[in-house]
Amino acid sequence: MLEEIHTLRSFEGVLQKMKFGHFDDLHREYVITQPDTPLPWINYLGCQAYFGIISNTAGGYSFYRDARLRRISRYRYNNVPMDFGGRYVYLRDDESGAFWSPSWQPTRTDLKDYTCRHGMGYTVIGSTANGIEAHTRYFVPLDENLEIWQLTVTNHRSTRASISSFASIEFCLWDAQDDATNFQRNFNTGQVEVEDGVIYHKTEYRERRNHFAYFACSEPNGRFDTQRDAFLGPYRGWDKPITVESGQLTNSIAHGWSPIGAHQVKLDLAPGETRQIVFVLGYHENPVDQKFDPPESQTINKKTVKPVIAKYLDPKEADAAFERLWQYWDSLLGIFQVDTPDIHTNRMVNIWNAYQCMATFNMSRSASFYESGIGRGLGFRDSNQDLLGFVHMAPARARERIIDLASTQLATGGAYHQYQPLTKRGNNDIGGGFNDDPHWLIVGVSAYLKETGDWSILDVPVPYDNQPGSEQPLYEHLQRSFNYTLSRLGPHGLPLIGRADWNDCLNLNCFSDTPGQSFQTTTNKEGKVAESVFIAGLFVFAGRELAAIASHRNLKDEAAKYLAEAAKMEKVTLDAGWDGEWFLRAYNDFGGKIGSKECKEGKIFIESNGFCTLAGIGLDDGKAASALAAVNKHLATKHGIVVQQPAYTHYYIEMGEISSYPPGYKENAGVFCHVNPWIMIGETRLGHGDQAFDYYSRINPSAREAISDLHRCEPYVYAQMIAGKDAPSFGEAKNSWLTGTAAWNYYAIVQWILGIRTSLDGLQIAPVIPQSWPGFTATRIYRGVTYKISIERKGKGNQIALTVDGVAIEGNIVPPPTDGRKEVVVKGILS
Ligand code: GLC
Ligand code: GLC
Repeated sequence: MLEEIHTLRSFEGVLQKMKFGHFDDLHREYVITQPDTPLPWINYLGCQAYFGIISNTAGGYSFYRDARLRRISRYRYNNVPMDFGGRYVYLRDDESGAFWSPSWQPTRTDLKDYTCRHGMGYTVIGSTANGIEAHTRYFVPLDENLEIWQLTVTNHRSTRASISSFASIEFCLWDAQDDATNFQRNFNTGQVEVEDGVIYHKTEYRERRNHFAYFACSEPNGRFDTQRDAFLGPYRGWDKPITVESGQLTNSIAHGWSPIGAHQVKLDLAPGETRQIVFVLGYHENPVDQKFDPPESQTINKKTVKPVIAKYLDPKEADAAFERLWQYWDSLLGIFQVDTPDIHTNRMVNIWNAYQCMATFNMSRSASFYESGIGRGLGFRDSNQDLLGFVHMAPARARERIIDLASTQLATGGAYHQYQPLTKRGNNDIGGGFNDDPHWLIVGVSAYLKETGDWSILDVPVPYDNQPGSEQPLYEHLQRSFNYTLSRLGPHGLPLIGRADWNDCLNLNCFSDTPGQSFQTTTNKEGKVAESVFIAGLFVFAGRELAAIASHRNLKDEAAKYLAEAAKMEKVTLDAGWDGEWFLRAYNDFGGKIGSKECKEGKIFIESNGFCTLAGIGLDDGKAASALAAVNKHLATKHGIVVQQPAYTHYYIEMGEISSYPPGYKENAGVFCHVNPWIMIGETRLGHGDQAFDYYSRINPSAREAISDLHRCEPYVYAQMIAGKDAPSFGEAKNSWLTGTAAWNYYAIVQWILGIRTSLDGLQIAPVIPQSWPGFTATRIYRGVTYKISIERKGKGNQIALTVDGVAIEGNIVPPPTDGRKEVVVKGILS
């Protein structure tokens, strides 16, 4: 069945051999064939409430909704060897005593045919050793709070094989921060139950928790362990558990210390025989008044969990759940599919970049190999920008996210920088005062309206700071966002920067000289002088979006006001924000220039030049062209466009965190992949398809696959940062997966280079593609209608002539069908 679905894929599968693995586009998988990748190459499991990260060697952990507060399994960040701890399976040859892990870690035994297939919401890892082939497929079924491990073992020997299989997980005592620090308490609290072969982890269930975890196995009557030290043995690690070595689990019951779940199943396999064992790791809640059974006991009430466990231990149910997961991703990715002459564009747009956008939506910045799951809440600006990449795949959830975000907005129009996912309340520890934040709400809502045409969202009553009684229509929130800047202008008439703008590390009011002080939360100056040219560009952009929204609602005067304010700011920007050849970046607390040729370091920055040109500032008078030419000359490198040049060589107290990083890393002249698309979009606004696409390709992970030794991060997803030319490791990526890079690159390639753009009035078709491309085709499901689009290049320019179902139309916006047609054919000729 799965094979059938696979062969329905519309695009070509191309298999290309690389050092660590290759893309399998047909199956929408990345196939890793060498386990010791430069860094753990991870994938995500789950897409609703139960989530996990899993590396190519089965490392990682799981959590329910909140990676900090409901951590299900334990993981040690910054461990050596790296990425140690996870969903480990061991096999043991009971005749010879040899044991190994089919996923390579944790035993790191030599294996034959090791493969890890990371797919859409699932990962399959396996290999062959000692004539025994074993694969484990890990995934989270839709609508369930559990993960399934399907272990398949085949005997390729000519004789019978007597094999013990072990599966293990280390439980986290729920709050991951506390779990890693509060040992005087935690070594006493751990509790489990074992019933009918199912291991239940119930630490703190006796008091205030009404949730527990469990680890079940489809084979009854096996042995188990629940006490970590019994399983591993004293002073041993996961690579050499004493029980796996000896061949027998001890049926230990954890009291305090470190509860784990381990199952042992003995397999007696005839030559050629295959067996499957299913393991289920899950999370379950009981109503508070029904926690125990019998009620006066301390025994978990298992009435509602048992049917769930029984269901998924059945391999047929597990297969069916996998099938549904496949269909889910098939329909999500089917909303936009493209066929261009460039394989890297195709696979990123059709598969991986869209998939990464969903991961950033689900995870925000919480849990990855670089985000420990205990740090950040959902960022106000980050989450609004993430919308650009996933709104077409999850419009209903985008709507909910927008309302959640807007509910944390302050009555001033300002915003908490972050909110906590479980409570959905603004985070007081970080507070607000990042003066770009409010404008991203306008950008996010506008993207939602363009996608869905759901104007009703603007009338939803939404509170400020979650205060009951403060509700105002969402539209008013947008107005306050805009006005926030109008009442916070600096000496040049440019927006005051506040704590920082998009660049969290440009802390112009911080003046921090105390080690360990947070650049994010420390403000030592009143902040009435430092201004941001980047926010000016964002203000102009957001103002015009808001004007379009207002005029759609027939609020002509208001629309005119927003346009007038945007025009005024544009003028100020072209004047006080212009350095002669490019846009300045900011003015500091002394009124001095940042990002000017007059500066010794940090003469030119990417953000202001990107966002101002993206917003259309300076398109008419040559300033946009000049700015982008300067970016090309001073900032563009073969590994992407760096944040600024020259890099800061020492710490400047008046600049803040940006100068805390060694040159070439992060915001100090690293290639911040999040902002590269702003330049790409700016280039498309000038009609420069070749240049835009060239920038796109420099940081496209698939296009960098061949240099994985240097790049080091996963070749199937974007990383936040690639080390810049000032760094000793120029070209090395860091912080993959959870970054605004996903949404912005997706948005830039799809909406601006391919030019399949949502607008308030319908689908706009305005490609600015490389000259050498003969054209491309795409399918886009938009507001319930399937658009079959083909673009053919006849001339070298970007002029487009469109026909819709064979009839020529004026302009480049395809009007939505009024006669109930569900499919339209759009042809575009570029000349
Ligand atoms: C990180 C933050 C984002 C910020 C960027 C630049 O990606 O999540 O909010 O804009 O860094 O500092
Ligand atoms: C640090 C990082 C920056 C990130 C911020 C988020 O400042 O350098 O990239 O946006 O932390 O808290």
